[in-house]
Amino acid sequence: MFTTEVYANRRKRLLSGIRSGLLLFTGNSEVGMNYPSNTYRFRQDSTFLYFFGLDEPDLAAIIDAESGEEIIFGNDVSIDDIIWMGPQPAMADKAARVGVKKVMPYSNLEDYIAKAVTLGRKVHYLPPYRDNTKILLNRMLGIPFGELKQNASEQFIKGVVALREIKEAVEIAEMDKAADIGYAMHYTAMKMVKTGIIEQELVGIMEGISISNGTMPSFPIILSQNGETLHNHSHHQVLTDGRLLVIDAGAETNMHYASDFTRTLPSGGKFTGKQRDIYTIVSTANNMAIDMIRPGITYREVHLAAGKILAQGLINLGLMKGNAEEAVAAGAHALFMPHGLGHQMGLDVHDMEDLGENFVGYDDVHIRATQFGLRSLRMGKELKPGHVITVEPGCYFIPALIEKWKSENINSSFINFEILKDYYNFGGIRLEDDVLVTDKGCRLLGAKRLPVTADDVECEMNDN
Ligand code: GLY
Ligand code: MN
Repeated sequence: MFTTEVYANRRKRLLSGIRSGLLLFTGNSEVGMNYPSNTYRFRQDSTFLYFFGLDEPDLAAIIDAESGEEIIFGNDVSIDDIIWMGPQPAMADKAARVGVKKVMPYSNLEDYIAKAVTLGRKVHYLPPYRDNTKILLNRMLGIPFGELKQNASEQFIKGVVALREIKEAVEIAEMDKAADIGYAMHYTAMKMVKTGIIEQELVGIMEGISISNGTMPSFPIILSQNGETLHNHSHHQVLTDGRLLVIDAGAETNMHYASDFTRTLPSGGKFTGKQRDIYTIVSTANNMAIDMIRPGITYREVHLAAGKILAQGLINLGLMKGNAEEAVAAGAHALFMPHGLGHQMGLDVHDMEDLGENFVGYDDVHIRATQFGLRSLRMGKELKPGHVITVEPGCYFIPALIEKWKSENINSSFINFEILKDYYNFGGIRLEDDVLVTDKGCRLLGAKRLPVTADDVECEMNDN
């Protein structure tokens, strides 16, 4: 946990922008996997963690924006709880640790909110993403399930985003730690990759490193020789020579800050000429994008610049044709990179995605595009010091998508569909690093950068 002042100060700053109503913070509860007491690993709600720091189930909190009163709702443990879970500090002591003076039993929450509703007071809440939170909000506020998201408080969402997106020094230190664990996960896998082993052996080792050093991976590990499937969670293939292995994985620290790295490795330790050509385009896009990152530039500009490098590289290889700038304007390169260049990261690997991607990655000036590819860019707005973003260009050969574009004649003036037939078994390449925007430019998170050029990757894989 951070110091008491960190949490008290965050709440004070949040209140400086919201002057009326009650702010309701819902913590998470345990979720049963296959029966109630056999639970998934507990994960606290990130906004609750950010403002109240307490990392345990069945808590909620309110802040009265008019009086400034703060209350944490939660139960002291009973003797039965002590038998199964051991002794616990009193709720009042836990609350004091994060600077909150008043506590109430969890069961008082509904009465407290009901009273506020009767008095006609506004109850600000954030968009719920778990069903039990939806049930609670529905019961307390009488808002139908289908309307809970649209009735969430925009003022509250914007206030939370404005604070959480600018990382404090204590958070940056945690994110450097998350990056170091992510480095260890990837570096270990890089050394283990060889033909004959099964993808899941690597996943298990990587997950183990994340758990030994933090809480868990920051999202289910993506590791596949079918890297053209962007989020491939099937790990049953045997590594075979001549294929590419996409590994997209990161760690969550004990304080729940995330890292997120992707490397693409030749399964047999050596890239083929064809793989190296495409790989070099992606690594160039990755490095050039990082070089562009500084306060004042929009991430959409950086995304489009990476797209232009990709398009020009593919034109040089004869896979695309025409002018790279025009191809990017038409969205033709999105056949090969249908996703965005990156996203904000913090307590969530896709930071604050539960609050609504457009509140996090866009604003009144920077509006999300509707074009295929560009519409998947999660972060389009201007960069500021303190933002943490991922930089993850990729190039994929997705046979079904290529066939669709070909049959519908989409962007056919920029794509050499006939040549692409030779790439239907290629797979995909993605290279991802984590970047902190600083006052003048940016820096990579973590003490060391994972090898990224084709030469460095081969060298590291073969240096045992
Ligand atoms: N690294 C997984 C993702 O960004 O979606
Ligand atoms: Mn990512």
